[in-house]
Amino acid sequence: MGERLRPRGRPGLPGALSGGVGCAYHVRYAIRTVAGQIIGSIGLHPRIGAGGLEVGYWVRTSATRHGHATHAAALVTAAALRVDGVTHAEIRHDRANQISERIPRRLGYRHVETVTRDRDAPGESGTAFHWRMAVEDYPGSVAARLVAAETGRPEQRSAFAPP
Ligand SMILES: CC(C)(COP(=O)(O)OP(=O)(O)OC[C@H]1O[C@@H](n2cnc3c(N)ncnc32)[C@H](O)[C@@H]1OP(=O)(O)O)[C@@H](O)C(=O)NCCC(=O)NCCS
Repeated sequence: MGERLRPRGRPGLPGALSGGVGCAYHVRYAIRTVAGQIIGSIGLHPRIGAGGLEVGYWVRTSATRHGHATHAAALVTAAALRVDGVTHAEIRHDRANQISERIPRRLGYRHVETVTRDRDAPGESGTAFHWRMAVEDYPGSVAARLVAAETGRPEQRSAFAPP
């Protein structure tokens, strides 16, 4: 595993996630090493219907294969599931993106849907896989275990609980 990661900014929820009903904004975190270098980004996107937040991510090529995306996705999954009104997080990827697929698989997301969609890039297949982490599935998941290891406490639902 590479360097430990920390979410950008203070260790509390970002404004759009801090409370209220659901999430009205797209929220993006920088993924930084503890040395402060930005190596990627991860976001939560309210664009998959009621109760859902989509997790999207990228990591710069020079920093891949150190577990950064997997750890960051675990952390933001925990944050997403703590938002009032949110019942599930989803990761969606083109079927051809087998590297991206490994992340929801590893974290304990369940494959819930295979859909056809427009190709956004030449390498895409036009088929997308949708993976879901429901609130009730999170406590026993690998994602929860990674979050507990990252935050140093047996957190069940939130990576970024306010003090
Ligand atoms: C997908 C992406 C975010 C993965 O980032 P990462 O930090 O390297 O991911 P991790 O290190 O957590 O690795 C996740 C899994 O992919 C594997 N993996 C990562 N890069 C790989 C590569 N180049 N070849 C083969 N496997 C690879 C890892 O071994 C790991 O598998 P495992 O859990 O079975 O051991 C990164 O490759 C990326 O930014 N790709 C372009 C953008 C993108 O596709 N975003 C997702 C859109 S849905």
